[in-house]
Amino acid sequence: MINWYRIEDHLIPAENAINKIKLAGKNICLINHENNYFATSSKCPHAGADLSEGWCASGKLICPYHRHAFDLKNGRGAIGQGNYISVYPLEKRGGEWFIGIKLTFIQKLFKK
Ligand code: FES
Repeated sequence: MINWYRIEDHLIPAENAINKIKLAGKNICLINHENNYFATSSKCPHAGADLSEGWCASGKLICPYHRHAFDLKNGRGAIGQGNYISVYPLEKRGGEWFIGIKLTFIQKLFKK
């Protein structure tokens, strides 16, 4: 089950920029890479660096610490890394942006 959250316009990144937001208890990178938009987790699984301080190249988000690369579409680490990051669906509906975040097990229990 996914909950959709509206993203305020000023948080949408300019071209080739990354904005970090906190939503539903998660730190998330909102990414504009060549005018394609993505949302990923912001913590690098290698040693915890803040991926919002990294950059994008060839469809990948690059960690600023040790240069691990993660596919912006599916979060997979490059060959040999053996890691991945979470990616979240982004949708533009009627001029407004929304991000989808899966409910945790506990949230599902208490959702009415
Ligand atoms: S902390 Fe990201 S590659 Fe090492």
